[in-house]
Amino acid sequence: MTQDELKRAVACAAIDYVVDDEIIGVGTGSTANFFIDELAKIKHRIKGAVASSEATAARLRSHGIAVFDLNEVDYMSVYIDGADEITYQGAMIKGGGAALTREKIVASVAEYFICIADGSKLVQTLGSFPLPVEVIPMAEAVVTRKLATLGGEPRLRVKEGKAVLTDNGNIIIDVVGLTISHPAEMERQINDIVGVVTVGLFAQRAANICLLGTPEGVKTLRFE
Ligand code: 5RP
Repeated sequence: MTQDELKRAVACAAIDYVVDDEIIGVGTGSTANFFIDELAKIKHRIKGAVASSEATAARLRSHGIAVFDLNEVDYMSVYIDGADEITYQGAMIKGGGAALTREKIVASVAEYFICIADGSKLVQTLGSFPLPVEVIPMAEAVVTRKLATLGGEPRLRVKEGKAVLTDNGNIIIDVVGLTISHPAEMERQINDIVGVVTVGLFAQRAANICLLGTPEGVKTLRFE
């Protein structure tokens, strides 16, 4: 099976976790996109969705799914999103699509975080995937110096010769070459650096469930 087929399989499986008549939190990325396409098929069953990025909001709207502002929503049963890496304990690296801050905010309102990922994302230890950090642009140099002391190599994310900007107008610094043995501790440590908006470690609020796409079928990992 291709990686896209595995992503589509977990996106289909995630539909079982959608709660009727409720608002659902929706993540960002190619796996989340497959999920949105599946969600469109049962859109009559839900009130609508809260999007974790402008791209997700646009895709939801293109399917005729109502998009709510998070400020109008005080409860969601589930938030469904992909990950760049996930451990056997449910800690994740996210932010490959630069949506980490809004993802973390929307996820914080949901009771359950359902991670949907192809099998290549499951790791023993986080860090092979460069760790994204969203940073206020004027703090680029000072944050880069502080991130360098953690042992990895911080690199400004650039696309077509320009710094990538998030939906919030900030830059992304990817830290390459980390071995993250204590993700919750590192999440706290990086979030404490002045100028950092969010680190793409989701460990203090890890996934509750991971639907993992494998050639043998979708496996369900529960972390509670
Ligand atoms: C975006 C994310 C994505 O969930 C993560 O990058 C996984 O993406 P994909 O589903 O395309 O593999 O965190 O900021």
